[in-house]
Amino acid sequence: MKHSHILPLASCIFFLTLVILVQARHHSHHAKHKHSHPHKSSKTPKPAPPPSPPHNQNYNNASGIFDLRKFGAIGDGETDDTESFKMAWDSACQSESAVNVILVPQGFSFLVQSTIFTGPCQGVLELKVDGTLMPPDGPESWPKNNSRHQWLVFYRINGMSLEGSGLIDGRGEKWWDLPCKPHKGPHGTTLPGPCDSPIAIRFFMSSNLTVQGLRIKNSPQFHFRFDGCKNVHIESIYITAPKLSPNTDGIHIENTNDVKIYNSVISNGDDCVSIGSGCNDVDIKNITCGPGHGISIGSLGNHNSRACVSNIMVRDSFIKVTDNGVRIKTWQGGSGSVSGVTFSNIHMVSVRNPIIIDQFYCLTKECTNKSSAVSVSNIIYTNIKGTYDIRSPPMRFACSDSVPCTNLTLSDIELLPSQGDIVHDPFCWNAYGDLETLTIPPVSCLLESTPQLVLDYDITRC
Ligand SMILES: *[C@@H]1O[C@H](CO)[C@@H](O)[C@H](O)[C@H]1NC(C)=O
Ligand SMILES: *[C@@H]1O[C@H](CO)[C@@H](O)[C@H](O)[C@H]1NC(C)=O
Ligand SMILES: *[C@@H]1O[C@H](CO)[C@@H](O)[C@H](O)[C@H]1NC(C)=O
Ligand SMILES: *[C@@H]1O[C@H](CO)[C@@H](O)[C@H](O)[C@H]1NC(C)=O
Ligand SMILES: *[C@@H]1O[C@H](CO)[C@@H](O)[C@H](O)[C@H]1NC(C)=O
Ligand SMILES: *[C@@H]1O[C@H](CO)[C@@H](O)[C@H](O)[C@H]1NC(C)=O
Repeated sequence: MKHSHILPLASCIFFLTLVILVQARHHSHHAKHKHSHPHKSSKTPKPAPPPSPPHNQNYNNASGIFDLRKFGAIGDGETDDTESFKMAWDSACQSESAVNVILVPQGFSFLVQSTIFTGPCQGVLELKVDGTLMPPDGPESWPKNNSRHQWLVFYRINGMSLEGSGLIDGRGEKWWDLPCKPHKGPHGTTLPGPCDSPIAIRFFMSSNLTVQGLRIKNSPQFHFRFDGCKNVHIESIYITAPKLSPNTDGIHIENTNDVKIYNSVISNGDDCVSIGSGCNDVDIKNITCGPGHGISIGSLGNHNSRACVSNIMVRDSFIKVTDNGVRIKTWQGGSGSVSGVTFSNIHMVSVRNPIIIDQFYCLTKECTNKSSAVSVSNIIYTNIKGTYDIRSPPMRFACSDSVPCTNLTLSDIELLPSQGDIVHDPFCWNAYGDLETLTIPPVSCLLESTPQLVLDYDITRC
């Protein structure tokens, strides 16, 4: 996750609000339209199935299934099926069955434009993708008046599962090749100019979400983004994009609590999972990650912002051929804290920077050191083994001059060079912590005993 600026975020929210208003009007218009053309209604089922008892949990109940094709979608990969998808969504959302399945049937490819699906809905929704969903092919085919920040957005939904045996194909190639992307201009340059590329799937201000068993590939930008969500369970998903595709984070979460990400495989061109500001209680388990940039907390504290992240667990995972393994990155000048993080039982293969804290994160060469930073404390690294790419040291704890990292605990670390026998010494700067066991390579640079903190309470408050 590279571009987290406050200003674009604010304008994005403003834009989103606008789009929602426009959509709401569009929808009510649409409903009228449907009623005034009765001959069309033979193609579309009754707006809402008869109310069923709230205890009805029967997934196969015909009245609770909303097949895109029944709403007129063609699914030939060329026809614009957006309106049919919206109608299926609206019907399912208004249905009073306890569970309503929106079915993207197998054997069909549905082309859908950037859309915001808005709740709250009457019952629980299941979007079952057994076929293929895809956006227009690149910036040239993207309608001028559609958002370029995001493709499919689910907004204010409480209780939804996104699953199926199908594929979400983000068709990102033409976006990655825009001349504004790193090294994509003439002669490997990067040209200035607007460079927005859509996030494939975004959940915004929603709760009780499950994403399960899906394949998603080649997003123009992040594959999934959750912001302002609560209780998110991601299970057995498979995300792929080429290793040089810019900014294609697998799963990005922000201001989101109670997250479980289990048993998934992610290989892409940026972070497998990135955890932004305002996330608490995140459990990541059995992830296979790489190539890409590894699993990151951050970047936090950009533009002097306050960031709070706590209770994060990353365990039983496999990270291979990535630029970083487990990373915490913060900008100079922020405030708040990252606290209570455990990285446990992680196997690394040929990873650059397997273990890294970087409190001097900076994308240009022009960042200056500031007198505040997001503090980093109570971090456990245990049972982290494997090999590192010898271009960087296997462990790097680069903590801020003004705000040291405290209470870092290391045990059972064994990191060997992936080739040759050059052993790099770990690097520490202003990092306090303890070794519970001997490590390979040995770490002698951590400072002992907790510093006498003279920190302004306001800086680290969360
Ligand atoms: C669907 O559920 C309703 C209410 O439980 C029931 O009356 C109806 O027969 C069911 N339909 C099918 C096809 O199972
Ligand atoms: C975008 O423009 C097209 C054609 O002018 C119009 O049909 C569509 O409703 C517009 N979409 C939005 C979201 O305003
Ligand atoms: C989410 O589900 C839990 C039970 O599964 C329920 O208690 C809670 O109210 C739901 N969340 C919201 C915001 O409704
Ligand atoms: C870990 O996840 C993979 C899928 O990525 C799955 O095949 C495997 O069974 C999982 N292992 C455990 C112990 O659940
Ligand atoms: C910021 O501080 C670090 C640690 O003291 C130092 O290595 C680095 O050169 C400083 N950067 C600037 C731009 O002054
Ligand atoms: C150090 O961190 C561990 C793990 O988060 C925590 O249990 C412990 O209380 C911390 N110790 C201090 C002195 O804060």
